[in-house]
Amino acid sequence: MSSRDETIVVIDFGSQYAQLIARRVREQKVYARILPCTASIDDVRKLNPIGIILSGGPANVYGENAPVCDKAVFELDVPVLGICYGAQFMCQSLGGKVHKAESREFGHADISTMGKSLLFEGLSLEMPVWMSHGDQIENLPKGFHTYAKTDTCPHAAIANESKGFYGVQFHPEVAHTPRGKEIIRNFLYNIVGAKGDWEMSSFVDETIKAVRDRVGDDTVVLGLSGGVDSSVVAVLLNRAIGKQLHCIFVDNGVLRKGEFERVVNGYRRDFDLNLIPIQAGKRFLDKLAGVTDPEKKRKIIGHEFIDIFEEEAKKIERVKYLAQGTLYPDVIESVAAHGGPTAVIKSHHNVGGLPEKLGLELVEPLRELFKDEVRALGQELGMPDSLVWRHPFPGPGLAVRIVGEVTPERVKVLQEADDVVMQEIHSSGLYRKVWQAFAVLLPIESVGVMGDERTYENTVALRVVESLDGMTADWTRMPYEVMGKISNRIINEVRGVNRVVYDISSKPPSTIEWE
Ligand code: XMP
Repeated sequence: MSSRDETIVVIDFGSQYAQLIARRVREQKVYARILPCTASIDDVRKLNPIGIILSGGPANVYGENAPVCDKAVFELDVPVLGICYGAQFMCQSLGGKVHKAESREFGHADISTMGKSLLFEGLSLEMPVWMSHGDQIENLPKGFHTYAKTDTCPHAAIANESKGFYGVQFHPEVAHTPRGKEIIRNFLYNIVGAKGDWEMSSFVDETIKAVRDRVGDDTVVLGLSGGVDSSVVAVLLNRAIGKQLHCIFVDNGVLRKGEFERVVNGYRRDFDLNLIPIQAGKRFLDKLAGVTDPEKKRKIIGHEFIDIFEEEAKKIERVKYLAQGTLYPDVIESVAAHGGPTAVIKSHHNVGGLPEKLGLELVEPLRELFKDEVRALGQELGMPDSLVWRHPFPGPGLAVRIVGEVTPERVKVLQEADDVVMQEIHSSGLYRKVWQAFAVLLPIESVGVMGDERTYENTVALRVVESLDGMTADWTRMPYEVMGKISNRIINEVRGVNRVVYDISSKPPSTIEWE
C-alpha cells in the first residue's frame, strides 16, 4: 500500500508545535506532512489529504498582518481540526468572532465537556489540558456548537460536526494534555475515518522510490560520521541506489579509540557500503598544533574536513547530490509575522557550506523525522543496536574534550581514558540510560603517589549526563561502584593520569562539553 493514500496535512501558522502535531499523527499510524500557511491550495490538493490540522501560532487572527492560509481548505470536503490559533482562524474565516480575552490562560486548565462530540468520545467529562492563549472565540460561526469550556474560556472546544470541522483552544499535541493523544486519535479515526496503515516500513519504501526517481543515474556523496543520523541516511540510500552512493569517512585524528576501524569494518561487512575511508589524522593534528581556543579548534577541524571532502568528492564521477542527515529539529521552519515563511536551516556541523562550494543539490531523507523516529527507522533497516542507540559525539571530537592544546600524546591519553569509560558504562548497563558519557583531559597536573614514587600527572574529568535533546542536561547520579571502578581503572591503566574527578554541573549554566 502507499501511505500517501492517507495523508493529513498540518498547516503551520508559525507554531513551535507544528512538528509535534505531525509526529502525534504519525504515532497513530497516519502519515502527516507539514505545509507553511503560505502554501497554495494547489499544494495542499496535490497531497490529496484525508484531513487537515491547522496549527497554533503566536499572532492574533484579527491583527493586521496575521498569517492566513487559503480559505479553500474549508471547501476540500475533508475534516479540519483547528488548534488554538488554528481554531480561531477557522472561527473567523467561517463567520465567527475572536477577541482579546479578559484573562489569558497559560499552562494547566481544566475543561468541562458538554454535549456528545466524536472528538471527546471515550473521555471523561472533566479533564486537564494545556492552554496557551490570550485571545478567545467570542461568537461561533453558523452551524457550530460548543463542546467544552473552562472557567474563563467559554468556547474551549467548538465543532460543526456535520461538516467535520473541529476547533480546540487547548493543545492536544503536548504531553501536558494527558488525554491529548486520544483526542487526536478520535479526530483521525472517528472523524476523518483513517485506516491507519502507515508504518516506518512505508516510509522506507517511499523514500527509496523517491530517491531512485530523483537521482536516476547520477551519483550521491555523503559525509559519514559514524553517528546515528548519517548512518541511517547511508543505509537507507544504499538500499535505494547501492553503489551510486559514495560515503566519505574521515579520520580526523580526534575520534574515539578504535572508532575508525570499527566504522570502516562494520559498514563494509554489515551493509556493503561503498565507503571511502580517509586517514587524515596527521593533517588535522598538524593544523591544531599550538591552538587552545575552542572555537578556533572547531573552525580548523570544520575547514579541514570541508577541504578533504571536496578533494575526495571531485575524484568521483557524476556527483550531483550531497546527502545529509538533517532532522526536523534542525530545520526551524517558522512563519514570520508578515505571514511569509522563513526557513532557517542550522548548517550541519561538518559539511556547512559544502553544497554551494561543490555545486551540489541536497538529499535529506530524514528532514521530516524526530530523533526517536530516526532510531525506529534504523531498527526497521536492520541496523544493530550499537549503531541505533549510539550516543551523540561532537564533530570536532576529542579536540573539544582536551582542554588546552591538542597534541598527539594528549589525544592518546584521552582515547585510553575514554575507552575505559565506555567499557564500564556499557558493562554496568548504563549506556542506554544516559545521554552521553565521556572523559575530559584537563590541563592540570597534580601530585600523586604510586608505589613509593611521587607523581605529577594529568587529571581526567568524568562527564556523564542525562538529557532529552542536549539542550538541557543534568549530571547522572552514578552508582559509586561504577565511578570507583572507572577511576581505579583509568589511574591504573592509563599512563600519565593520576587523578579522576566527577563533573556535577548541570546545563544550564554549564554546557555538556567542556569546550
Ligand atoms: P553543549 O556542550 O553545547 O553540547 O552543551 C550539546 C550537544 O551538542 C554536542 N556538541 C557538538 N556537536 N559539533 C557537534 O557536532 C560541535 O562543535 C559540538 N559541540 C557540542 C555535544 O556533544 C552535546 O551532545
